[in-house]
Amino acid sequence: MNELTEYLKTRRSDLAMTLVEPAPNESEIETMITLASRVPDHGKLAPWRFVEYGFEDRKKLAENMGALSDQDADIDRKESRVKEISRFQSAPLVIGVISTATAHPKVPEWEQVLSAGAATMQLLIAANALGYGSQWLTGWYTRDVNVLKLLGVSDNEQVAGMVHIGSPSAQKTERTRPELSDIYSRYSPLI
Ligand SMILES: Cc1cc2nc3c(=O)[nH]c(=O)nc-3n(C[C@H](O)[C@H](O)[C@H](O)COP(=O)(O)O)c2cc1C
Repeated sequence: MNELTEYLKTRRSDLAMTLVEPAPNESEIETMITLASRVPDHGKLAPWRFVEYGFEDRKKLAENMGALSDQDADIDRKESRVKEISRFQSAPLVIGVISTATAHPKVPEWEQVLSAGAATMQLLIAANALGYGSQWLTGWYTRDVNVLKLLGVSDNEQVAGMVHIGSPSAQKTERTRPELSDIYSRYSPLI
């Protein structure tokens, strides 16, 4: 078994809350984004972009998100929103992957969105390749129209993921995976 197979067999996300300094430096961030942009992309549209959210940016954003959450009358929802705001600030680095999919004469939007998912996955892997841990998160603030503006995401864009990156500080446990028999079959028609 080669190294890549071994990596894929054991790959796991880290929990964002367990990611600590040191964070990747500017040159490592550029390397990670270069690697992450090397994904299948029908029509060479590059239907995604990457946004670095530094620690200070996130602190400020969190204050604004908190003010928006405070207006929510639902106590349980407010509590879970506050948790997500806190998690958004925890890792040393967050890179947002933004889907910029638009109508195209030959490439369906769905395929462009899938490419943004591929870029997000590749960013997780690129962080691992450079020795960092990573986790793909979204959360209410990546779908809230008011927050999206603050995050610098336009009306015609969507957040594919907020990739939390840093140095791992905790042991990762195994996560249950689906049985092959549940997810793999030989072709049989539905009609
Ligand atoms: C699009 C997308 C959004 C996700 N958002 C969240 C999230 O908001 N909160 C969360 O706990 N996990 C979220 N996850 C799940 C984690 O990224 C990940 O699946 C989990 O930590 C285990 O991953 P692993 O199989 O890579 O170890 C999301 C996954 C995807 C694909």
